[in-house]
Amino acid sequence: MINKHLIDPMDLSLEELDEIFELAHQIIQDPKKFSKVCDGKILATLFYEPSTRTRFSFEAAMMRLGGKILGFSEPNSTSASKGETLADTIKMVSIYTDIIAMRHPKEGAARVASKFSSVPVINAGDGGHQHPTQTLTDLLTIEFLKHGLKGHTVGICGDLKYGRTVHSLIKAMSRYEGTKFILISPKELKIPDYIRDEFIEKKNIEFKEVERLDDVIDELDILYMTRIQRERFFNEEEYLRLKDSYILDVEKMKSAKKDMIVMHPLPRVNEIAMEVDEDERAAYFKQAEYGMYVRMALMCKLLGVA
Ligand code: CP
Repeated sequence: MINKHLIDPMDLSLEELDEIFELAHQIIQDPKKFSKVCDGKILATLFYEPSTRTRFSFEAAMMRLGGKILGFSEPNSTSASKGETLADTIKMVSIYTDIIAMRHPKEGAARVASKFSSVPVINAGDGGHQHPTQTLTDLLTIEFLKHGLKGHTVGICGDLKYGRTVHSLIKAMSRYEGTKFILISPKELKIPDYIRDEFIEKKNIEFKEVERLDDVIDELDILYMTRIQRERFFNEEEYLRLKDSYILDVEKMKSAKKDMIVMHPLPRVNEIAMEVDEDERAAYFKQAEYGMYVRMALMCKLLGVA
């Protein structure tokens, strides 16, 4: 895995995923043991789009491994604002640093960056396309809280069209035996055909597409809620019409299994009422914490330090 780029969740084999999760478990059990393994290493965080969890968890992860960070969260403060190409920026940054995490609004930007980088590039989200480290976060959360990755009925609810975390999660979960998907969305925000065709139907995975959460919540082992992605809409009126399509509240949770977990990549806007945070099945903040540990493990593997 040393020096590999991570652009798409399928860039990692199941064996490599297991290695990352095994290391994440070790880090969670004994973080001190890993507190200097990245001494002398520098992570660049290049965020051309807003972020709280992904950027901070990458930066916290590198600092907790004993490394250093540089980067930006405001591309207008860089020479991109003077017209420098992404290719040239990446060539420069890969001279100064050992590993790059990049978020960009354009689909495919991370793949382009990887072609011009002499160090590993990690896709921290490219437009409405993929978000592979969110997927590592999601898989580690499921592994911990549902005691393994096989045999789960996963309900994915909200904006399945533009939600990159959804696209990456479906790709990843489609590799685990016994997965069933229940895709819950307004018809305007259904999963893109290429994801459904290639990663669900071709693999003969059991699935259904529905519009009402209430009709299926009692069937789910995992409910993965998502935000309606305002920034990806071309039409504000359409967003306003769809934005409150789903609101998970205490009343709805009464119909769910006692051991169902509620996940959400966050940020949430209105789709999970704050009262649900008190329910022990609410896993989304724990999920964000696992995100830091799994990014620690990932960077250790890509840098070959653990
Ligand atoms: N889950 C996620 O990508 O969150 P941020 O946009 O805050 O990084």
